[in-house]
Formats: sequence, structure tokens, C-alpha cells
Amino acid sequence: MAADKVRFGVIGTGGMGSGHCKMIPQIPETELTAICDVNPEVRERIATTYGVPAFATHSELLDSGLVDAVTIATPHYFHPPIAIEAFSKGIHVMSEKPLGVTVAAADAMIAAAKASGLKFGVMYQMRAEAQNQAARKIVESGTLGDIYRTSLVMAWYRSQAYYNSGGWRATWAGEGGGVLINQAPHYLDLFTWLGGMPSTITGQTRTRLHDIEVEDEAFATLEYANGAHGYLYASTTEVPNNNTLEVCGNLGKLVLDNGTIKLYTLDQPIREFTQTNEVMWGSPKVVEAEVEIEDYSQHLIKGHGAITRNFARSILFGEELIAPGYDGINAVELINGIILSSKTGETVSVPVDRARYDALIEELKQTSQEKATVVEQRVTDPKFA
Ligand SMILES: NC(=O)c1ccc[n+]([C@@H]2O[C@H](COP(=O)([O-])OP(=O)(O)OC[C@H]3O[C@@H](n4cnc5c(N)ncnc54)[C@H](O)[C@@H]3O)[C@@H](O)[C@H]2O)c1
Repeated sequence: MAADKVRFGVIGTGGMGSGHCKMIPQIPETELTAICDVNPEVRERIATTYGVPAFATHSELLDSGLVDAVTIATPHYFHPPIAIEAFSKGIHVMSEKPLGVTVAAADAMIAAAKASGLKFGVMYQMRAEAQNQAARKIVESGTLGDIYRTSLVMAWYRSQAYYNSGGWRATWAGEGGGVLINQAPHYLDLFTWLGGMPSTITGQTRTRLHDIEVEDEAFATLEYANGAHGYLYASTTEVPNNNTLEVCGNLGKLVLDNGTIKLYTLDQPIREFTQTNEVMWGSPKVVEAEVEIEDYSQHLIKGHGAITRNFARSILFGEELIAPGYDGINAVELINGIILSSKTGETVSVPVDRARYDALIEELKQTSQEKATVVEQRVTDPKFA
């Protein structure tokens, strides 16, 4: 490794991976030195565009001596085995979200990362956004007091053409879920980063609008160890899109609503006021507090780039990771928990029963059908291009 640059390989250079290939050379601390894709046409095109060697298998890339770190942007089922092999070969890993399809596979990835002592990141780029960084600081400061309610409404519309764009998409065998495993992880990560992990999940999933075998809508009620409760909804069926996340505490409320942030603080804890106030229509006084948001407008490297840059700086200079791979387990717990609860009709405890979920996903994979209509497209979401 050159003293000031991390040599990156990208494994899986489709829609998202090609975006990483474009972004990595723009970051001062990273260079793109190799790529891998199982599809020959895709890997040759990307290799020619960026003038780097292309490998047909991840093992060849990992053995090439050309990379210090890899970004894994294959379909989700491949993230854990590729990461585990990379760690065993002394290579740092940035995994695309989600860590894996099952908690057991994600556990194995985490164990391999720990044993290797190498850097392990997960591509939750929304953590790098200024309002989300501010939200995390508010939660960490204790301003909200004891958490007693959380909620998340996340609607990211997808068309049938999107689902038809890859044979693996929205199948149990190829993807391992629908909106929960693909679109929701970003917000499930923020939701748990800000609101903590629930202890039980009661969930429902359904396929409402699309011709797919997995869910395009999911909703759940959550219980937390301290008695707090939560609600979450995720779908690819609603337009316009919606992202609303609330964390409500005894001392205040944080509302993230479609890119805006609001913090409300109370002059007295709700519980205390409720017991002591003698005025019939009284309520604690609410102040909308000023939220300090850093101005990132001049930052040239944002989103995925900010996470990759931080990851490289963590390798080079020991910078603290914004999105450590270890945190990635939380979204997988919620995803597995909601699906398990929906399929069994039971309330599920967290951590999710690994063996039970493995058995369920194997059963679901058996029901998977070859897709009738696939019009392959590997196009980076224009928001990220
Ligand atoms: N962080 C984000 O904002 C974001 C956005 C989109 C996708 N993603 C994630 O990126 C991953 C890929 O999604 P996509 O939309 O780019 O899919 P895609 O189908 O466009 O690309 C996947 C690529 O991986 C290749 N591939 C499949 N198996 C492989 C293997 N074993 N080794 C090497 N290459 C392999 C395919 O040929 C394809 O080119 C998913 O895990 C997804 O969740 C993240």
C-alpha cells in the first residue's frame, strides 16, 4: 500500500459497483486497482473504462496482490462468503448493504472480521449526511431523555421494470427478500442507530403491487426493553416517496422528515409533569430547539464517497468509522425478525433465532421460481451517479 492511498478492488460492478468504480478514483485517499464481475461483458466494459485489470472470480482478485481493500457490491447472498475470504487473505472489507440475507451469515462475517483485526465497513452512506450526524449527536447527548416511542415510515417507489432488471432481484433464492432486504436497510440502520434495538418484533409483510414473490410492503410493531414501543412501515408501492423517522423521549422529540430535522425539547419530563401538574389542560412547555447542522455543501465527496473516504482514512490513519460493519447486524435482525414474525404469525424476540431463520429462508428458497421476464439493466440510481 502506498503510504497515502488505499488500493481498492470492486467486486460486482453492476449498478452500484460501477458507481463505486467511478467514485473511488475521485477520492484523494483511494485508487481503483482491480475489478471483478462474473459477467464477462460487464467486467470488460468497466475494466476498459477505468484501465484496471478485471477478474472473473473474487478469489482471483483477492489473490492478485493488487488490492488492500475491497468493496463488495454483488447481490446480498454473496457479501458474507466473499468478505470472509477477503479477511482470511488480509484484505480490508467494505460491504454493500445489507451485510447479508440472514443473521447467521452476518454473524459469521462479523466473527471473521474480528478474528482478522482488519477494517470492516458497511455502506450506510446516509449516516454521513449532515442532518443524520446531527441527529446522532442529539441522541448521544441524552437530550431526549428515556426513549419511549419510535416510528419510521419509509416509502421508496419501485416500478416493475426495476424488479425485472435482474434475475436475482425480488426472489427468495437470489435476493432473500423484497423491500426489507433491499431498500429499507438504509432507514432500518438509521432507525436503530438513533432509536436503539427493540427486544421483540411483531411484523407483517405482503406483496401488494408488483409481480414478485417477495414483499413490497412490510410493517411491524416493536417493543423495547425499557417498555418503549415502536412502529415501522417500509414499501416500494407508494408515491411520492416518504422518509419520516421519529424518536420520542421523556424530555424531547426528534423528527427527521424527508431531509429536514427538528428537535423539540420540554421544560419538564413528561412523566414528572403528568404526575405533578394540577391544571386540567396543562402540558409541559415545548421549545423547538435550534439544531446545529454542519455545512457540508462545500464537501466534494459526499454519500457513498464520504463513507469510502472515511473507511480509507480509518485504514491509513485510524480514523473512527462512521459506519462500522459490526453495526450492520442490526438492520439484518429487524429484516429477519419481521419476515419470521410474518411467516409464523408469532411475536419474535431479538436477537432472532438463527437456526429458525435459516430453516425458514431455506424453505422460502425452495418456493422460488425462475423469473419469466428479465430485461437486464445495470444502471446506477441517478441519485448516486
Ligand atoms: N448503498 C447503496 O445506496 C446501494 C444502492 C444500490 C445497491 N446497493 C447494493 O449493492 C449490491 C448490488 O446491487 P446492484 O443494484 O448493483 O445489483 P446489479 O445486479 O446491478 O449488480 C450486481 C453485479 O454483481 C455481479 N455478480 C453477481 N454475483 C457475483 C459474484 N459472485 N462475484 C462477482 N460479481 C458478481 C453481477 O454480474 C452484477 O454485475 C446489493 O447488495 C445492493 O443492496 C447499495
